[in-house]
Amino acid sequence: MDIIKLKDVNKIFVKGNKVLNKINLCIKEGERVALIGPSGSGKSTLIRIIGGFEKIDKGLDSKVEIMGVDRQRDGKLLPESKKINSEIGIIFQQFNLVGRLKLLTNVLIGRLNKTSNLNSFFYVFDKKDKLIALEALDNVGMLEFAHQRASTLSGGQQQRGAIARVLAQEAKIVLADEPIASLDPASSERVMKNLIKLNEKHKKTLLVSLHQFSVAKKMFDRIIAMKKGEIVYDGSPKDIKKKDLIEIYGVYDADEMLT
Ligand SMILES: Nc1ncnc2c1ncn2[C@@H]1O[C@H](COP(=O)(O)OP(=O)(O)OP(=O)(O)O)[C@@H](O)[C@H]1O
Ligand SMILES: [Mg+2]
Repeated sequence: MDIIKLKDVNKIFVKGNKVLNKINLCIKEGERVALIGPSGSGKSTLIRIIGGFEKIDKGLDSKVEIMGVDRQRDGKLLPESKKINSEIGIIFQQFNLVGRLKLLTNVLIGRLNKTSNLNSFFYVFDKKDKLIALEALDNVGMLEFAHQRASTLSGGQQQRGAIARVLAQEAKIVLADEPIASLDPASSERVMKNLIKLNEKHKKTLLVSLHQFSVAKKMFDRIIAMKKGEIVYDGSPKDIKKKDLIEIYGVYDADEMLT
């Protein structure tokens, strides 16, 4: 089943600048997809549109479908698709956690849509929620930090906390927008391994935007490359050729990137 489907999606913020130009895209349940492309190519906009943070432009045939439900159509976010929100977990480059709250509470926030309105208003969680959150922290190797304030954790630890929150949310789809952009190589590797585990062990569909082509190539089954608002490559990392990289990045060291 196509869990994410975009049809003829356009996005213009400022007249004359097509940020997304007729994007057609299908992602199947359980796929692990890297989204690459130079700065300004539209990766974040695409992720934000799938996440429901940004509206697509009007267009009679345009739509975004998630898990078989129309989420956006003809420039409108459909209110009836709100129930899908809980199925989409999102991890950004930074500021994923509320700094003044304990890590455990941050992870529990992922469970808000599973508790009653009143309980969620007061941040009251039951034992089952806490067990799920603690298990999620254990999964990303962060159990020992459960009671530490999020603001006192390193960037990599915070990202792993964000992954735990998505796990606790029990979302089927995980979108991550440059999750390792501000991390050192060792932390990046740990965060990426945890993200991959979400796909391999927990069977989540994964769409991750990355600037590191080498990471995309090594860890993902499918690469979608964007340039100036269009998809210019969609396929296996194995099949990416030097000419594709030159087209995507306009680079000089394409040989090096392929090795
Ligand atoms: N809210 C907005 N208002 C106006 N222009 C915007 C807005 N959001 C994005 N853009 C423009 O859309 C284009 C694509 O931006 P986007 O953030 O999607 O690119 P990106 O591929 O994620 O880049 P990066 O790799 O630098 O994160 C850019 O030209 C950007 O300036
Ligand atoms: Mg971006």
